Amino acid sequence: MDITGKTALVTGANRGLGRHLAAELRDRGARVYAASRDPQAVDLAGVTPIALDITNPASVAAAARAATRVAILVNNAGSPPGASLLTGDLAAIRLEMDTHFFGTLAVTRAFTPQLAAQGDSAVLNILSALSWLSIPRSGAYCAAKSAEWSLTNALRIELAPQGTRVTGLHVGYMDTDMIRHLDVAKSDPALIAKLAIDGIEAGDAEIIADETSRRVLAGLSTGVLGLYPQVA
Ligand SMILES: NC(=O)c1ccc[n+]([C@@H]2O[C@H](COP(=O)([O-])OP(=O)(O)OC[C@H]3O[C@@H](n4cnc5c(N)ncnc54)[C@H](OP(=O)(O)O)[C@@H]3O)[C@@H](O)[C@H]2O)c1
Repeated sequence: MDITGKTALVTGANRGLGRHLAAELRDRGARVYAASRDPQAVDLAGVTPIALDITNPASVAAAARAATRVAILVNNAGSPPGASLLTGDLAAIRLEMDTHFFGTLAVTRAFTPQLAAQGDSAVLNILSALSWLSIPRSGAYCAAKSAEWSLTNALRIELAPQGTRVTGLHVGYMDTDMIRHLDVAKSDPALIAKLAIDGIEAGDAEIIADETSRRVLAGLSTGVLGLYPQVA
């Protein structure tokens, strides 16, 4: 896909990976809507801030009315991990699904007519290595990312006839606010954003953005006991 001159919309573009994705699209010649719950929090030059809370149907509908000619939709917004499925607050567990699954779905449905009208169009969903692997302390996040992965695959089939390619990006730990509290090796979100937009330009169906994701993907073929040896 030639990004130059295309219109893109990035959710959660005020900080973290979303801010880098919006900057990368802008630098490659796209006209960019930087969507945020608080548009005043968008501090990037050369983009158009737009209000969008992906869990609020009225906000999603208003953004789809306000933005025009969107050919590249980047579903990046995400709520932070935390809730255990067994002991976590049910409202926190629900928020993970409302954001990563229902929010991503609502935004994609709202922009599908615009994507169709552009013909050559793309949806990029920011997934995770945790779409494929569950860790107990963040079980709700993992379940939501897994559901978002399944959604990505269903929509890639449903959107293909209208000329919209759907790409899933899988990544492990990145250096953003989301996991600021974790003392682990983290990748640079600016580099992940470059890989992501390279993938959109190349028309890739899936982007495996780091070694952790590659390892977890390979681990799927080892079955449950390969992924979770502690329960063997
Ligand atoms: N960081 C990692 O290690 C990592 C690893 C794998 C995948 N990911 C995924 O990467 C994506 C970006 O995460 P990040 O690391 O950049 O996290 P982040 O720095 O915490 O940023 C999250 C962004 O999502 C926005 N957001 C949250 N809920 C929203 C809602 N209901 N409506 C609209 N925007 C909302 C936030 O907006 P506010 O500023 O208004 O809160 C913020 O802009 C997420 O999908 C995440 O699951 C992250």
